[in-house]
Amino acid sequence: MRILAIESSCDETAAAVVENGRKIISNVVNSQIAEHAKYGGVVPEIASRRHIENIVGVVDTALCRADMTMKDVDAIAVTYAPGLIGALLVGVNFAKGAAMASGKPIIPVHHLRGHIAANYLVEEHSDLEPPFLALVVSGGHTHIIKVKNYTDFEVIGRTRDDAAGEAFDKAARAMGFPYPGGANLEKAAMEGKKGKYRLPRPQVNGSELDFSFSGLKTAVVNIIHRANQVGGKIDIPALAAEFEDAATEMIESRIRIAIEITGEKRVVAAGGVAANGILRKRLENVCRETGRRLYIPPVSLCGDNAAMIGAQGFYEFEAGVRADMSLNAYATMDIGNIYL
Ligand code: KG4
Ligand code: ZN
Repeated sequence: MRILAIESSCDETAAAVVENGRKIISNVVNSQIAEHAKYGGVVPEIASRRHIENIVGVVDTALCRADMTMKDVDAIAVTYAPGLIGALLVGVNFAKGAAMASGKPIIPVHHLRGHIAANYLVEEHSDLEPPFLALVVSGGHTHIIKVKNYTDFEVIGRTRDDAAGEAFDKAARAMGFPYPGGANLEKAAMEGKKGKYRLPRPQVNGSELDFSFSGLKTAVVNIIHRANQVGGKIDIPALAAEFEDAATEMIESRIRIAIEITGEKRVVAAGGVAANGILRKRLENVCRETGRRLYIPPVSLCGDNAAMIGAQGFYEFEAGVRADMSLNAYATMDIGNIYL
């Protein structure tokens, strides 16, 4: 089964063709990052406008690279939640138009389910199937999830304030890096000496699988403010290294506990922050020590893309999920929500 997939939940306009949920035939991502960087973050109104301008070309390119037309695809999968509402609506409305014109079914896909499904697209992950434990760390979400089957998800840990990626971006911005700062912060941290600064590793009282990143970000901002007030200098690489160490240590400790509590044999990581080299190493270590198998997509599939939506779309289709012309977009939605 071939699925044309569309993703427009944030600042990437993306389309892909995916076969049987496991094989990428084509995968096109048009990023708006350079434009949003001028403002230090995503400007929703600009994102919606760029999606409208780009979506026809991006879908055309995905079909063209797959050497296909709409006739050759069996269904259209589209991200319908969560994300920027105006941005999501562009993809959803495009999918509805394409479905009406072609007579193909529409499959609504939850963005975070898609991030997890990016792992199904990796050749070396061909043995990966639920149940497993999933860590989703992106710009908007930080979740630890029990994936019971391909369409049954239970959140067992989540952030109480900022998402991991958001914390990276805010700390990076305070350090003077352009948006989105996560990757820039990582690069700077590689040159940084450890031990010069000490940042907190906040815990959530009585809830050992939850996260709180906002205190960590505030601590970074305070160190920089204090230095500015007295005309002191900040060793940015050293501060970046300490921030990265603290943020990834917090994630590692929760995953260690989640493995113990759930007893799951496989651990899957996903989302933009899963591109972080230190986090990848920490997860590898935890899984080696606890005898678990770790699955992480290559960096190219950690960030937003449509192939992951096509992968999850296949399993949603198999479970009977279909949308009609009343399909709407939703800014927020729990990953466990069942589309009716
Ligand atoms: O999953 P994603 O592409 O978009 C969302 O759905 O949010 O995640 C984007 C987030 C941004 O916050 C970005 O700074 C972060 O992932 N990110 C990183 C790295 N690469 C991207 N954070 C830390 N280290 C990285 N190498
Ligand atoms: Zn995402």
